Amino acid sequence: MSDSDRHPFLKGLSKHRGAPPTALVIFGASGDLTARKLVPALYNLAVDNLLPADFFLIGFGRKAMADEAFREAIRGSAREFSRRKPNPEIWQRIEENSFFLGGAYDEPEGFIELKKKIDELEKNLGRDLQSVFYISTPPSVFRPILDQLGGQGLARRHLRTRIESKVVIEKPFGRDLVSARELNAATARVFDERQVFRIDHYLGKETVQDLLVQRFANAIFEPLWNRRYVDCVQITVAEELGVGGRGGYYEGTGATRDMIQNHTMQLLALMAMEPPVTLDPESIRDEKVKLLKAVQPLRLEGEDSEVIRAQYGEGLIGGKKVPGYTQEDGVPGDSSTETYAALRLRINNWRWEGVPFYLRSGKRMARRVSEIAIQFKRPPGNLFAASDLINLAQNALVFQIQPDEGSTVLLNAKIPGLETRTQPVKMHFRYSTTFGSNTPEAYERLVLDAIIGDSTLFIRGDETEASWKLITPIHENWETLGRRGMESYAAGSWGPLAAERLLWENRHQWRRP
Ligand code: BG6
Repeated sequence: MSDSDRHPFLKGLSKHRGAPPTALVIFGASGDLTARKLVPALYNLAVDNLLPADFFLIGFGRKAMADEAFREAIRGSAREFSRRKPNPEIWQRIEENSFFLGGAYDEPEGFIELKKKIDELEKNLGRDLQSVFYISTPPSVFRPILDQLGGQGLARRHLRTRIESKVVIEKPFGRDLVSARELNAATARVFDERQVFRIDHYLGKETVQDLLVQRFANAIFEPLWNRRYVDCVQITVAEELGVGGRGGYYEGTGATRDMIQNHTMQLLALMAMEPPVTLDPESIRDEKVKLLKAVQPLRLEGEDSEVIRAQYGEGLIGGKKVPGYTQEDGVPGDSSTETYAALRLRINNWRWEGVPFYLRSGKRMARRVSEIAIQFKRPPGNLFAASDLINLAQNALVFQIQPDEGSTVLLNAKIPGLETRTQPVKMHFRYSTTFGSNTPEAYERLVLDAIIGDSTLFIRGDETEASWKLITPIHENWETLGRRGMESYAAGSWGPLAAERLLWENRHQWRRP
């Protein structure tokens, strides 16, 4: 069978679930995200025959570049970053439909050219095109781009038809509640909410989508999923990497803005929300917003404080010595940017009142691991009282988001033998053993969903505001404190000792994933 038989995309006959002819315009097309994630995602969608049969890619950047040079650049990124080796026949089809336009983000000229280009593509094709505008630039130009899209009428092309324009906005969506509200308002002046796709790439991860399936397609968990049985929940998003060459970006951002406000809060919302009425995007997002609104304002002061921040110092990663945060390039010696944050949250609703939710995220931690661990209460009575022979753990259900994707139930079992001895044991489900390891990358799913207009895995405007409302007071407090209260931890460790304090009150301990 030839490639064109296996890949109708090559013959212009996509089997895709009805995606209309599309022009995907990437602002920030010479940036890192385009090279590492977006281009490989497009290539892999083409391989799976999921791109619309008529598909055009328009890169847009500040510096002019010939179409040929752009094609060469994206060829290089597909080669370097795609999870599957590019097949020249499939790749060629993407390449010949790729173009580049240069222009300032805050002046009309480039956008007038962009409109002309889309009109010309439509004319040659003899059909209308859906425009998907992907804003993958530094946040300082989000608003100018939105304004220009509005000003040139690009946002309202084919409005209220199946092929109306869409806009995808990368993070960070604001840096506090006020700026998130302003950005929402600027977006709403140009696009209707249903046209807007705010990215949190964690939602594109297979394991995060699987959380909904595991929770709502299995009846065994629901009776336990509440304050009667759950002792605490621990959400960890730990990275081994430091800030590397991104010191300049990271400085002034910090772990709370970079990871907690978005990725960990999304994991929390999906894990703790009520069952949605249906699986349509609005029902799911309604439940997430309700959950975020039920989280109580954090206590920020004194012994009772529910927030810890810290910076990594020198340490060992993989046996190699690495510098501390303030020795990284672009980071001042007196930086007050946290590379680690831990929060203890209280959720005031029927399901969760009294159950502490612990969230933590940090760079340069002992291991790269993201997981949600639900720790259950101990059984009543003491049939198996602690002794030398009895080693009992609290039951736990752990969703391993990455790496080593899967889930684990922690149980106690009898060690075979003539006396009663016990030991904690694990029941595992692993993606790699059950499904193989070549699963789609988060961006494949997200780019596809934006093209077909499914907003389930994107953040709604009120959702981002609900999350910022919780996080902003933390930053306001830190601004008044400067470096006071900044803890430290050795690179390669599990975070500062002070973070243990958050859990002591309830006699809990952080897991060692
Ligand atoms: C990004 C953060 O959103 O997520 C980065 O800006 C971080 O600082 C990255 O490294 C982690 O993503 P992943 O998918 O590797 O867990």
